[in-house]
Amino acid sequence: MSFKPLRKAVFPVGGLGTRFLPATKAMPKEMLPVVDRPLIQYAVEEAMEAGIEQMIFVTGRGKSAIEDHFDIAFELESTMTGRGKSLDILDATRLQPGQIAYVRQQEPLGLGHAVWCARHIVGDEPFAVLLADDFMLGTPGCLKQMVQAYNQVGGNLICAQEVDDDQTDKYGVITPGARDGALTEVRGLVEKPKAGTAPSNLAVIGRYVLQPEVMRVLETQEAGAGGEIQLTDAMARMIGDQPFHGVTFDGVRYDCGDKAGFLQANLAVAVEREDIGPAVRAFAREIGACS
Ligand code: UTP
Repeated sequence: MSFKPLRKAVFPVGGLGTRFLPATKAMPKEMLPVVDRPLIQYAVEEAMEAGIEQMIFVTGRGKSAIEDHFDIAFELESTMTGRGKSLDILDATRLQPGQIAYVRQQEPLGLGHAVWCARHIVGDEPFAVLLADDFMLGTPGCLKQMVQAYNQVGGNLICAQEVDDDQTDKYGVITPGARDGALTEVRGLVEKPKAGTAPSNLAVIGRYVLQPEVMRVLETQEAGAGGEIQLTDAMARMIGDQPFHGVTFDGVRYDCGDKAGFLQANLAVAVEREDIGPAVRAFAREIGACS
């Protein structure tokens, strides 16, 4: 069976990033770098690898650094060219007009609201959602793995990962049905269940493939956990109407919205790099952080 191709991705970047204050007071959380690339660039490159043609950013006040990052930096580029320096390092940051669109979320009312703000640009086709602060390391990338699953089963897909029992109250959690390899049928979804009430320890991670009908559901979605309009709650209302699966990601995820997760991601990437890996490993050994 062939399904409508996935061409568009929504990047909600309107959150306040309060867990990372004061670093995120004047700088978007999505611009925090893992070694030398901001989180948002990794997410955009992951989307490109998965065949996405249009990147839709849902931004908010104070997020203009993201727009600048994906624009042509005329002075920088002409100075570098004048000094005989290659511009290759900027390749994935110079998106073409038409490849990128911005829409503003005027108030941070929640992830569901952020996605709904993109409804006119998404139109009547399936789309991906990527949360840049969930940093996913895998080959192929997480969204490509999800697109491969989408091509098999269609419908709605969410990235799923098992978390410790004492962590389920921080996530959307899946009531699982039948399992087939990396695919788990989703029978129910609950956002941030109270400790001890989670239906499983299969948590929703920040990658989604959604059908456009979710926009109509979001239209009437009321605030849920944390007083925010939750994407999970809208998705839960679609279960039964359309196929719904979790895809277990083959790779490692770092929660870069959290300070410890962010530092772990930096260390994991740094030690694997040819240029700085040896020095970082030597330092980590020196302070007893690795063998
Ligand atoms: P988080 O739950 O991590 O919230 O949002 P946050 O505001 O970004 O960060 P903290 O918790 O205050 O530190 C998950 C994702 O949803 C986006 C965020 O940008 C992040 O990618 N989001 C959240 C929005 O775009 N708009 C919102 O109103 C809320």
